[in-house]
Amino acid sequence: MGGVSAAWDPSLYTTSPAVLPSPNTTGIGWEDAFAKAQDFLAELTLEEKTTLITGTNGPCPGNIIGIERLGFKGLCLQDGPLSIRQATYASVFPAGVNAGASFDREQFYKRGLYMGQEFKGKGAEIALGPVAGPLGRTPWGGRNWEGFGADPYLSGIANAETVLGIQDAGVQATTKHFIGNEQETQRNPSVADDGTTIESVSTNIDDRAMHELYVWPFADAVKAGTASIMCSYNRLNGSYGCQNSKILNGILKDELRFQGHLTNAHRGAVHAGVATIEAGLDMNMPGGIGFSSPTPSFWGANATAAVNNGTIPESRIDDMILRIMTPYFHLGQDKDFPPVDKSSAEINGKAESSFGFPFELGPIVDVRTEEHTQFIRESAANSTVLIKNTGSLPLKAPKNIAVFGNGAGDYEAGLYSFVGAFLADAEEQGTLGSGGGSGTGRYSYLVTPLEAIKARAKQDDALVQFILSNEVITEYGIDTIVPAPEVCLVFIKSWATEGFDRDELEPEHNGTAVVETVADSCSNTIVVHNGAGPVLLPFASHPNVTAILLSHFPGQESGNSLVDVLYGDVNPSGHLPYTIPSSLSVASPPIVNSTELVETTDPNAWQDPFTESLYIDYRYYALKNGSVDYPFGFGLSYTTFSLSDLSVSAVPGTSNSSSLPSASSPVLPGGNADLWKPLYVANVSVSNTGDVAGAAVPQLYVNIADAGAPAGTPQWQLRGFDRVDLAPGETKTVGFELLRRDLSFWDVEAQQWRLPSGTIGVEAGFNFEERTVKASLA
Ligand code: BGC
Repeated sequence: MGGVSAAWDPSLYTTSPAVLPSPNTTGIGWEDAFAKAQDFLAELTLEEKTTLITGTNGPCPGNIIGIERLGFKGLCLQDGPLSIRQATYASVFPAGVNAGASFDREQFYKRGLYMGQEFKGKGAEIALGPVAGPLGRTPWGGRNWEGFGADPYLSGIANAETVLGIQDAGVQATTKHFIGNEQETQRNPSVADDGTTIESVSTNIDDRAMHELYVWPFADAVKAGTASIMCSYNRLNGSYGCQNSKILNGILKDELRFQGHLTNAHRGAVHAGVATIEAGLDMNMPGGIGFSSPTPSFWGANATAAVNNGTIPESRIDDMILRIMTPYFHLGQDKDFPPVDKSSAEINGKAESSFGFPFELGPIVDVRTEEHTQFIRESAANSTVLIKNTGSLPLKAPKNIAVFGNGAGDYEAGLYSFVGAFLADAEEQGTLGSGGGSGTGRYSYLVTPLEAIKARAKQDDALVQFILSNEVITEYGIDTIVPAPEVCLVFIKSWATEGFDRDELEPEHNGTAVVETVADSCSNTIVVHNGAGPVLLPFASHPNVTAILLSHFPGQESGNSLVDVLYGDVNPSGHLPYTIPSSLSVASPPIVNSTELVETTDPNAWQDPFTESLYIDYRYYALKNGSVDYPFGFGLSYTTFSLSDLSVSAVPGTSNSSSLPSASSPVLPGGNADLWKPLYVANVSVSNTGDVAGAAVPQLYVNIADAGAPAGTPQWQLRGFDRVDLAPGETKTVGFELLRRDLSFWDVEAQQWRLPSGTIGVEAGFNFEERTVKASLA
């Protein structure tokens, strides 16, 4: 077994076994819809079948052409994980990382539901989100913020709830990117100076880390019924993510019994026709004529030919159709689904299909609602992470406020810029409501911190002065602000986007110097950071820095949400869904990149061995006794909480559980059904010991490492959390169900989840490092 316990043997992880043929769907859980899909399939010619699995030009980022005689209007696939991107008059929700920071199942679900309603209103049958990969293995990862945090348990629950929400709105969710897409650098092949094609980075993962970290949240999404899964750009153990039959056929379709359809990342993740079809890919996007895709497609007419010449059995194509059409019927998308909104065609510039005829488009509709706006404001405020407060927050109606820094005002590149969205660095000026790339949003409006502060300060007749240029602040100081402010609010930021990894973990644009300059002159300096985390905060111990808030990428109501927190209308309850290390030297692990690799002529040079195996984020820092500034799960409140009385009881009838799930238990979407059965329930009392209402986030960590799990098992791992509203003085009992999977490790020999034989320790706390109450599983 790989991992820190054993020497890393690269040869074990640079090849992937073939797992063929691709397992057929039987429509488990979707039986009625499966029967309808079978009837639909029976009507199709071979050409229609291959057209239905191959994308075409059209109004959406991904399009499947309709078949008029069968009353099928086609499929519109739209980004992304925080908003419908290619449409006007839609809401931009807080990013995945904000939702993750809420540790709130209700927020996960509602965010999915409300986004789903907007996708449906705009005529998009398929939403390209949520994000379970990247998981956040490395703090430098450019797309971590699209997902929910660097822990598989948290990410799993957030993904499952989001899938349920999106699909309850009648839209298919696409959980992405499967798998190992933990860095953007060299995610696509490049061409060396001598013309050699240099392949994408190969993410090399051992079997335990694959199951216990990276596949874990996808299993939750499959269990929740995700209609679709998107495979990723990178190679995985030597073979491209979208043609790796071990992970697609073997893990996803067999082990997890995924019943929906597998689609690919759009910008060149498909490198072959037959090999991808055999490996389990069911839908080729964007198809023949599109983004970085070859013309003609590897699929389309080539797939027809492959069937006609006997290379691919038609039954494989039939299974692809069933996988695509079953969720469509299951979600009732054959009945009165709105047409694609005209604005998408305008933005996308392609109203016609590659076949030359136009799509039927509907009028431009405004899908934003008061309920969505309210939710965006509240959820972004709730999930703001307060990491320092010496008492300056909440503000007490200050009369003289100063605002500093380039993260406070309007974004100089505008409300949406597709080019800007993919830029390695954010523009100098402007607040960051979301990150960049296909996961960004197209704002109808974005309330900046400065405008919201000005509006709120008016109520107190307060003076609001500002300096937004970081250069002016660091070069000339802040003496122009007179009279001296009561409170100095400093806005700094860190950009992150698809297509690039982060190149620094300190706030960008000289943010640290900006804070230090202000704090040297202003005894009440409050810092607000927007953007990607983890971010290093070397100024945190400055005596004049009285409070620090991390609001990540909060979406369109950014300024309003922030003001609600600053003035105490909302008591923040966000907790870090990752660890903030104390310095660059301890941050781990780096992405793979070097001049040598950039200049290589070896096609296979880009290798990323995940030698840390299970030890990512808090698991890693705990192992190394790494110096951590703010641990995973950390977050302050305007009140205080305490935990007591942790007790654990076995679920009746499970006391003699065998170490492996029963072989006779059915394998359903999500895996062996036994894995999802609760074995224990842990209860803990949570009290609000302060004098304002607030929400606590108790977390439960389990220790299977000392209970007989193999070497290489992290000692404490998150296996329960909740967000609990508490009035001052109130106490509530919070229960955590521990499922068989939560207490098992992946046994690489048995190729199964196994419960350790010893006594499992359980500890609860308000963050990873302060686990104050303890118990064990009897
Ligand atoms: C991205 C996906 C996205 C798709 C469509 C791909 O490049 O990786 O996340 O959904 O394109 O824009």
